[in-house]
Parts: sequence; structure tokens; C-alpha cells
Amino acid sequence: MSQSVSRFLRFIQSSPSAFHAVKALCDMLDAHGYARLDEHKPFAVVPGGKYYVTRNRSSVIAFAVPQEGFTHFQIVASHSDSPTFKLKPIAEDVVCSQYTRLNVERYGGMIMSTWFDRPLSIAGRVLVRDGGALTTRLVDLDRDAALIPNMPIHFNREVNDGYKYNAQTDLLPLIGDADAKGSLAAQIAQAAGAAQEDVVSGDLYLYNRMPGSIWGADDAFFSCPRIDDLECAYTSAEAFLAAQACGHINVLAVFDNEEVGSGTKQGADSSFLTDVLSRAAAALGMDDGAQRAAFSASFMVSADNAHAVHPNHPEKYDAGNRTFMNGGVVIKHNANQKYTTDAVSCAVFSGICERAGVPVQHFSNRSDILGGSTLGNIANSHLSMNTVDIGLAQLAMHSSYETAGCRDVDYMIRALTAFYNTQIATCGDGEYTLI
Ligand code: CO
Repeated sequence: MSQSVSRFLRFIQSSPSAFHAVKALCDMLDAHGYARLDEHKPFAVVPGGKYYVTRNRSSVIAFAVPQEGFTHFQIVASHSDSPTFKLKPIAEDVVCSQYTRLNVERYGGMIMSTWFDRPLSIAGRVLVRDGGALTTRLVDLDRDAALIPNMPIHFNREVNDGYKYNAQTDLLPLIGDADAKGSLAAQIAQAAGAAQEDVVSGDLYLYNRMPGSIWGADDAFFSCPRIDDLECAYTSAEAFLAAQACGHINVLAVFDNEEVGSGTKQGADSSFLTDVLSRAAAALGMDDGAQRAAFSASFMVSADNAHAVHPNHPEKYDAGNRTFMNGGVVIKHNANQKYTTDAVSCAVFSGICERAGVPVQHFSNRSDILGGSTLGNIANSHLSMNTVDIGLAQLAMHSSYETAGCRDVDYMIRALTAFYNTQIATCGDGEYTLI
């Protein structure tokens, strides 16, 4: 069994929300000697230094400065969030004087049917009054706390003929009998280690409690929640920490809110990446012109998972440009530039994979099926550079329990380590030497 898949499944276990995923990434960075910078303080950045910055505690950017000079940045960007349900501010209500259930709303575009009849729990962050101050605490009930029961087929005979779920009525989780009303606040306060009256507010989400599984002949596949996009967040972090930069600054960026369009202060459609990189460059003595030159010479990998051909519906995929689990890293293409990949970025990235001995697959949607989009071109609208969109081929994207290929985890770590270790040196517009 692949060690890297086991490590990834442990990472998933410790990342029930985007806040926890970023905390787990920060723990990895701390263990490798990275220093935390605060956005509200001056950046003290020196050659040879290793740093990271969080925004909203749900996005993180880490960077490693080489000892000798540098000409540009090499960035891998992914996202920390996954579709789920968020608790409304007043969440508990009692039904038929018998049940306590939670009022929740959708976050992102999930496959709703996958949230029924399985143990769920609640995680996120709360703001706690601490003397005169407000502090943030992450909370995870870490127990089977809720469940969304299906209707019996006897009352919903059409459920197998294409049932339309109503998020306001069908998806509300049960958390206990009538006596449970009021217990949620107590459970959250206990998880936060605070008195109930000191918990002021929260951003709390449901998560699927099903543990990860490695399965199939030869343990070919694994399944767990939030593979999109924590598989890319985790593998890019492993690669970033394994790499030795020389001649450029390696950057690991993990943004929140991709699943809702990235348009938040901590999303890819914010100033976060530009703010961090330009402040780092300024602290290293670069003026505005030198920074713009460095950004223009930089290269980004936008890493968000891709679709493997579904075994029961191969007709949904383009006949020639389709991808499979365990087939290696997927380069995504789209004529209308929903993906950033073009001839230049494809040539650079596939050249790096070839040298690393990592197989590459190419994905294009059928021309009569609208595909998804991701954060690459959104980030590019703020900080523009040659960028390639990649991912790993997975099944059941946006299910509460997704499936991917075990061998691909190692492929991605190897490809991204090679990306970080390669000096992508530009010698003209669309001209590169890989050193
Ligand atoms: Co994604």
C-alpha cells in the first residue's frame, strides 16, 4: 500500500473544514521550520528564509527564499474548501415536539443525495470572548452528531426516477430528540474550550464522518471526503516541503472559496497572492519595476482535480481527450480559457513531467458539454503569468465521498517536486529553458 495515500488519508481526517485543512498545512510548515508572518505587521523577509501567511485562517501562502538571488516565482495554487452545508445562525429547531434538527444552507454545488443516511459531524471556527478580546478557536465535535435521513420509498415512490431535492426542506439533519434543543451550543462551547456565554459567533459546517478506504483489486483506488481539492493541496504541500529552490522563490498557495466562485477576501479572486508576493519582494529590496519583471518571468500551476471517465457513462467524455485514474497527472485544456493551459504552459509543464518520469494525460470536455472552471484564470486576473491547469483524475466529484487512484498521489508529488526543483528560466516571450 502506498505510504503517501495513507498520509493523505490522515490529512483528510484532520481536515474536516477549510479552517482545519489550513491548520493542518500550517502544522506541516511549522514542522519544517517555516516562520509565520502576519499580514497586519511589516514583513521581515531575508534570503534563505522560509515563511507562510494565512488570511481568514482558511487560505495560506507559503514561500521559500533561496540563499542566493532569484529571478522569479514558481507557484502551485489549489483550494482548501469543498461543497458542504453551513449551519444558519439560529440553527436548532424542534419538529413535532419530538425531534431537534438543524437549519442549514448549501455551500457550493454538492451532489445532495450523497449526504443522506450517513453519520455526520460539525466543524468550523467560533469567535470567543476572552476578557476584553475576541479570539478565534477551531472546533470539531469529532463524534457522530447528526444524520440526514432519507424518506422511506413507500412515501416517495419516484425517488429512483429522478427526484428533485429541496435544500430548504429535504436536507435538514436530525441531531437528537426534543430534549436536545439547546445542546448544540453546549457541545460547540465544550469543543472550543470556552464557556457557552463566551461563544459569540461561528462559521460551522457539516462533514461526512465516513473514514477513508483503500479498495479494489491491488488496492488500486481510495475513497474519502473532500478529495477535490485537498488531494492537490496536500500533494503540493508535500512537494513544496521536499523541494530545494535555487534561482527562484517557490510558492505554495491554498485558497478558500473556490467552490463559491473565489470572490472573497481570502479567495483566488482577491489581493492575497499579489499582496504577499509583492511585500516579500519589497522586503528583499526589489523596487516596483523589478517586481513586475519577476512576476512576468514567473510560472503558476493551478492544481484542481480532474474527471476520470465514469465506468457506466464513458459516452459523456470526449473520445480522444479523456483521462483515467492511475494514469498520471492531467493537463486540462479549454478553448474558451476556463482553463489557463496553452501551448506555452503545456510545453513547460509536460517537459518537467517527462524529465521526472511522470505520465501525463490530456483532458478536454466534449464540445456539447459545458465543463467546470477553477481558480487559475481568476488568480491570473490579479497576477498574470504563464499558467497551466492540472489535476488528478477522480470519480464522483462533489459527492460527499469521492474516489481517486492510489498511484496518482505519488505521481503528483513527484511531478510537483520536479516543478519546484526546476528553474523555469525565460529568455523571451514564450521562450524557456528548463534548468
Ligand atoms: Co475543485
